[in-house]
Amino acid sequence: MKRVGVFTSGGDAPGMNACIRAVVRGAIYHGAEIYGIRYGYNGMIKGDIFEMNSHSVSNIIQKGGTILKSARSTKFMTKEGRKKAYDQLQKFGIEGLVCIGGDGSFTGAKIFFEEHGVPIVGAPGTIDNDIYGTDFTIGFDTAVNTAIEAIDKIRDTADSHDRIFFIEVMGRDSGYIAIRSGICGGAELVMVPELSTSVEDVISALENEKRRSKTSSIIIVAEGGEAGSAIEIAGKVKNKLKEADIRVTTLGHVQRGGAPSAKDRILASRMGLSAIEGLLNSRKNVMAGVMKDELVYTPIEHAITIKKSLSRDLLRMVDIFNNRYKR
Ligand code: F6P
Repeated sequence: MKRVGVFTSGGDAPGMNACIRAVVRGAIYHGAEIYGIRYGYNGMIKGDIFEMNSHSVSNIIQKGGTILKSARSTKFMTKEGRKKAYDQLQKFGIEGLVCIGGDGSFTGAKIFFEEHGVPIVGAPGTIDNDIYGTDFTIGFDTAVNTAIEAIDKIRDTADSHDRIFFIEVMGRDSGYIAIRSGICGGAELVMVPELSTSVEDVISALENEKRRSKTSSIIIVAEGGEAGSAIEIAGKVKNKLKEADIRVTTLGHVQRGGAPSAKDRILASRMGLSAIEGLLNSRKNVMAGVMKDELVYTPIEHAITIKKSLSRDLLRMVDIFNNRYKR
């Protein structure tokens, strides 16, 4: 394979730039020409494609976001959109792709391969850590650290004012960020989609807290849980505990930005190099990952269909900490 492309797709994640850098430098090392595609699949459809060299990725390993920009493409979900993307790749002579993104991006990659035979190797880039075939995804570690920093700060003010804070963290429909940031932030309660915690459970936990003379509490709510958003849960709790002084903080996109942690820079670099080397060695339709500190390739099909579960011991720990209030 002489000429390959690289793009970032879906929600950005800290470390994507480190991954792009590894893909570009790895391609050049192996004598391939490397093209960057801006704005993910949208840029592929439009032909927003340019040749990269070693210098294109200088001074980016420490930067958050993605120099290639990103998008969630609705056009690529259509057959016509994918045909246009294929025509553009033909025009530029691009024979294979490295896709840095999450499950939506990999689903697109799989369909594209089935329809047009363009080999794609994925590198999992998402703060959600919800991709099977890798212990951690690019950006997850940084996002958890960002969340912890915010939780620690909120803890100070919660304590000064004797308040209950509901803090909502990202994760789409998985509780990876919530469980780790909740444990690290010493949260009084962690609500993750993987464990069902009702509003009644929250109320009884807070009542128990009060009996123990605890004056402030932090409850971490993973977005996508069945009990609703942090605002909704807080509203219901306030209806019942009228005296309680309750505030809600939604951490939101702050979790997606910032300089990648050391862990994310290393992980992204390993995955980027492994992805490009896999592609140049004729691997197709696989994702590069790191499991138990070993580089592995997983079929994209498995990466997007097999549900990765939260560590059982972490779930148990949270369950024990949550249940503490029932005693
Ligand atoms: O997948 C990453 C993520 O940040 C999720 O945690 C969140 O649910 C979603 O993206 C937000 O997407 P957007 O930036 O398109 O609003």
